[in-house]
Amino acid sequence: MLDSAVEYIKDKIKEFKPEIGIILGSGLGELADEYCDIAIDYKDIPGFEASTIAGHKGRLVFAKIKEKNVVMMQGRFHYYEGHSIQKVVFPVKVMKKLGVKTIIITNAAGGVNPSFKPSDLMIITDHINYMGVNPLIGKNDDSLGDRFPDMSEVYTSDYINLVKKTGRDIGVELQEGVYMALTGPSYETPAEVKMAKIIGADAVGMSTVPEAIVASWAGMKVIGLSCICNSAAGVSTVGLSHKDVINAANKAKEKFKLLVNEVIKRL
Ligand code: HPA
Repeated sequence: MLDSAVEYIKDKIKEFKPEIGIILGSGLGELADEYCDIAIDYKDIPGFEASTIAGHKGRLVFAKIKEKNVVMMQGRFHYYEGHSIQKVVFPVKVMKKLGVKTIIITNAAGGVNPSFKPSDLMIITDHINYMGVNPLIGKNDDSLGDRFPDMSEVYTSDYINLVKKTGRDIGVELQEGVYMALTGPSYETPAEVKMAKIIGADAVGMSTVPEAIVASWAGMKVIGLSCICNSAAGVSTVGLSHKDVINAANKAKEKFKLLVNEVIKRL
């Protein structure tokens, strides 16, 4: 299936060779509207599923940004949609086979660290996989990575520093911290958020970690960026809604685009 997807895409993109991949999270998909040379709907790609949630389109967008060849996922597959974890990470394997060396994985997240405010951006320094599932379970594809891959530096420190410096240079303030993934789709309870804080999380969300594990396993350099859309349950007294999450992402999207553009330029 992987080979069929790669062949299908190569046939559409001809000599375009993506070197940077971006997964655009909830409310952050606009980058792929602004830069779009070739778009392929997920539903047409062998092995891809259609995305099912509001705020998420479902297409792979190829574009030159700042002289770099980029492939963007406008919309991703979440485990909570009922897709198998293999389906969730399938596009990352496709990106690897297309030649992507660096992947920028973005998401909307809830702030666990009390100093975070809605619409803050956070560079991910590490993660906690609390999904109860690992995308590498099953027969190992030795052509992509090892059976027992090292995860001591999933988020390449050089690139964390590059993103932080970029933020400083262009005046985009950045938080940094540990992202913890849970399956969702229910938001966390205050007790769960308290636990997340105790075990070292700064933000919680429902994505990113499966993709980051697979990208790291396959030898890609990973940059993780969270848009803190709300204070996680119990951190503030206001309740959570998907609408508020999308609104906060909307508020953050201009600085997000500015940052990502400049990071791409410097990669
Ligand atoms: N929890 C989990 N995922 C999220 C949140 C949250 O508070 N906000 C946006 N995505």
